[in-house]
Amino acid sequence: MKRTSAPTQSTPARPCSNSSVNEAKPQHPVTFRLRTHQANALTLPLQDAEASYDLIVTHFFLDCLTQPELNTLITRIAPTLTPGALWLISDFRIPNGVMRLPARALIRSLYLAFRILTGLRSTHLPDHATPLAQAGLTRIAQQHSLAGLLTTELWQA
Ligand SMILES: C[S@@+](CC[C@H](N)C(=O)[O-])C[C@H]1O[C@@H](n2cnc3c(N)ncnc32)[C@H](O)[C@@H]1O
Repeated sequence: MKRTSAPTQSTPARPCSNSSVNEAKPQHPVTFRLRTHQANALTLPLQDAEASYDLIVTHFFLDCLTQPELNTLITRIAPTLTPGALWLISDFRIPNGVMRLPARALIRSLYLAFRILTGLRSTHLPDHATPLAQAGLTRIAQQHSLAGLLTTELWQA
C-alpha cells in the first residue's frame, strides 16, 4: 500500500435522498491512497520520490520466485518501506520432524504440477527470511498451520 504525502480527507456523512446522491458534489478533494497495478513485480518501477510503502502483502507469491529473483525483489522493495512498515507473508514451508519427508514430497510434486500447468520456472521454496533480515526487517509474528506445511509471518521494517 502506497502512502502519499497528502493527508486523506473524508466527506462528512449526511442524510440524502436518491436524487441528491446523483447531484451530490464532494465538499473536499479526495486523496486516493490505494492504487492497483497489474505488472511483473520483478520489473515494476517502485522508486518514487513522493511515495513510500507502509504495507506489503505476498500470499503464496514468493514461492513463485527463484532465490536470486526473491533476493533482488526484497533488495528493491526494502528501501521504499516507511519506518515500521509491515510485510505480511503466507507461504509453504517444510517443517522439521516426522512431517519433513512427506512435506518435501508434497511440495516437490506441487512444483512439478505448476511447472507443467503454468510453466513455473522455480523448482523449490526460496528462503525469504535471510534476505528480509539482511534488508533490516524483523519477524514480529509467525504462525504455522496444516501440520507445519504453511507459514504466515508478519515482518516489520
Ligand atoms: C499461487 S498464486 C497466489 C495468488 C494469491 N496471492 C492467493 O493467495 O490466492 C501466485 C500468483 O503470483 C503471480 N505471479 C507470479 N510471478 C509474478 C511476478 N513476477 N509478478 C507478478 N505476479 C506474479 C501469478 O500470476 C499468480 O497469480
